[in-house]
Amino acid sequence: MGWFSKFINSSIGKKFIMSFTGILLIIFLIIHLLGNLSLFAGENAFNNYAGTLEKFKPLVRVIEVLLTIIFVLHIYNAVYLWWTNRIAKSKLYAVNARSKETNIFARTTIQSGSIIFIFLVIHLKTFWYASNFSAADVNLYKLVTGWFANPVYSYFYIFAMILLGFHLNHGFQSAFQTFGWNHKKYFRLIQTIGTVYSILMAVLFATIPVYFLFFHGGH
Ligand code: HEM
Repeated sequence: MGWFSKFINSSIGKKFIMSFTGILLIIFLIIHLLGNLSLFAGENAFNNYAGTLEKFKPLVRVIEVLLTIIFVLHIYNAVYLWWTNRIAKSKLYAVNARSKETNIFARTTIQSGSIIFIFLVIHLKTFWYASNFSAADVNLYKLVTGWFANPVYSYFYIFAMILLGFHLNHGFQSAFQTFGWNHKKYFRLIQTIGTVYSILMAVLFATIPVYFLFFHGGH
């Protein structure tokens, strides 16, 4: 146990956990997006998809607990590293240290992450909590499309999805770097895959509120 607690308390250990949980979240987002895209196929298709998940409730509950642990570890380690880094930098300012991270995606991960966190709280309250803890049976399609008919709610989603793209664009390549998969030969490729992935996630997730706000009459 000694080496393990030493590792997870070191800053390389914390970076490792942040990257590992980040990769798991990257995978979760793909699965979550694929499920959500069935909203475009209409009420029956989406509610059938939700009904199938309902049949595997115990497994879904286990995944939800794991996701909670993953999110908590990701956020805790990110904030810890950001804060210790900030203190270290403020001490170094006397010798005029400049940030090594020059691109906007890298410099704003903590800001984009914080807004994604606020998004997640609102998201879980309006969809997950409402569908799991309502007294009456919930028509999930009606619940989701009903919320997206609200411009404030939909615009906030679109804004959060753009920031999610920013966050993923840095997070993707940074995670691979942590694991040492940043060999010169592959670095460009990983960077490109990361950028394509981030744009796809941001655009495809955002098409959902855009569609239900502007193009889908009569909920
Ligand atoms: C337009 C975009 C999105 C839509 C329409 C959407 C839809 C949903 C719905 C309907 C649920 C409830 C499922 C249920 O109660 O059975 C849910 C749960 C959840 N969503 Fe989203 N989601 C979107 C984007 C996101 C994003 C970007 C994230 C992460 C940053 C996210 C994270 C989660 C999590 C962690 C849960 C709870 C776990 C689960 O039950 O699967 N969602 N989402």
